[in-house]
Amino acid sequence: MNRVVYLLFNSIVLIAISFIVNHNNGPMLNAVNAISLDIHLSLDNNTFDLVVGYNKQIRSLAPNDQIDLGNTSLPHITLYLTDFDNNSISFIQQDLSEKANDCEILLNQIVVQGQYAMWYVENNDCLQYMSDLVVNTTYQYIVPNQPIPDWVLQLPEPLRTLKIDMIEKYGSPNVFSQFQPHITLAWDQYDNMTAVFEELSIPDHTYISPSVGVGDVGNYGTVLNNQYALYNFNGRIHFQFANDPNPPHFLNNKNNNLISNLNKIDIIDLYISYIIQKKSKYSNNTHPSTTTTSTTTATTTHSTCD
Ligand SMILES: *[C@@H]1O[C@H](CO)[C@@H](O)[C@H](O)[C@H]1NC(C)=O
Ligand SMILES: *[C@@H]1O[C@H](CO)[C@@H](O)[C@H](O)[C@H]1NC(C)=O
Ligand SMILES: *[C@@H]1O[C@H](CO)[C@@H](O)[C@H](O)[C@H]1NC(C)=O
Ligand SMILES: *[C@@H]1O[C@H](CO)[C@@H](O)[C@H](O)[C@H]1NC(C)=O
Ligand SMILES: *[C@@H]1O[C@H](CO)[C@@H](O)[C@H](O)[C@H]1NC(C)=O
Ligand SMILES: *[C@@H]1O[C@H](CO)[C@@H](O)[C@H](O)[C@H]1NC(C)=O
Repeated sequence: MNRVVYLLFNSIVLIAISFIVNHNNGPMLNAVNAISLDIHLSLDNNTFDLVVGYNKQIRSLAPNDQIDLGNTSLPHITLYLTDFDNNSISFIQQDLSEKANDCEILLNQIVVQGQYAMWYVENNDCLQYMSDLVVNTTYQYIVPNQPIPDWVLQLPEPLRTLKIDMIEKYGSPNVFSQFQPHITLAWDQYDNMTAVFEELSIPDHTYISPSVGVGDVGNYGTVLNNQYALYNFNGRIHFQFANDPNPPHFLNNKNNNLISNLNKIDIIDLYISYIIQKKSKYSNNTHPSTTTTSTTTATTTHSTCD
């Protein structure tokens, strides 16, 4: 008797909860569940030290700089920054783990814009692809109806409408054609940043991004941590099967460099079985060049992007 009452009570509660959820798909859910996340490419260790060092020099010349890299925030290259539904974090993690890929980064220009000083990254196909892919994959999890910031409302047309449309659909004004990869070096309301950079000499710098991170966002778009994810490319193996008429099934056909998230052991296993399969397939025929290709690629185990 007690048990029946208990179950009945339970299902009434469930019905009541689902009613609330279904009929409050707007502001109430947003207020409860929104979390700002920055999905970004990380720096390798050398570049990290270099950027932290520049930031330290900048802060000694510009004492009002609010960005303290290496101490309170992490240098990063944002691929996508928006408010997500906190309940979707596990889906975001799952989807991103299958998409991570490294890119070559060329840092080649200091730009002072408003209160920000940024080290611009020369955009390239790999970076644009990564940002587009991350946005396409995860925008289904954003908080809808995000506010349009003032600076966007003040832009001239047609940029204003373009960015407003992007915010409405993707929760960010800086995606797709508006993606401008950079590392933020400073945010300063008082010091003359142009004068600061005249005193510093910052040569161009190149590196390969070692990982994709997902972290909390602080003031001025800083990244506070990588507490939701850090997908390393270190264990990644890049295959060169450009001339292979039958590429292995675990390679994504759209992009030979894009291997879904298999750990190193899985990839080696798949690779070995692929080679065995190939060897038996070709062992009886007279195409030594094909066999040679297989043997050569077997040694291609570096994670650099050519
Ligand atoms: C997000 O969800 C987690 C786990 O449910 C919770 O601990 C955390 O406080 C939430 N964060 C926000 C900003 O709502
Ligand atoms: C980079 O630094 C981290 C932490 O300081 C360390 O664990 C890692 O081994 C370093 N990586 C390389 C390639 O030196
Ligand atoms: C971090 O902050 C502390 C005190 O605020 C300072 O002494 C230290 O030099 C800072 N570290 C870096 C890397 O800037
Ligand atoms: C992202 O989506 C757009 C629009 O659907 C599509 O044109 C584009 O190819 C996609 N890009 C990636 C990298 O997924
Ligand atoms: C900032 O410094 C630059 C370069 O030294 C100078 O040309 C400019 O006039 C300064 N701006 C202000 C507001 O002082
Ligand atoms: C290669 O030859 C062996 C022995 O003659 C045979 O068993 C095998 O099926 C052949 N492989 C192919 C792919 O033809």
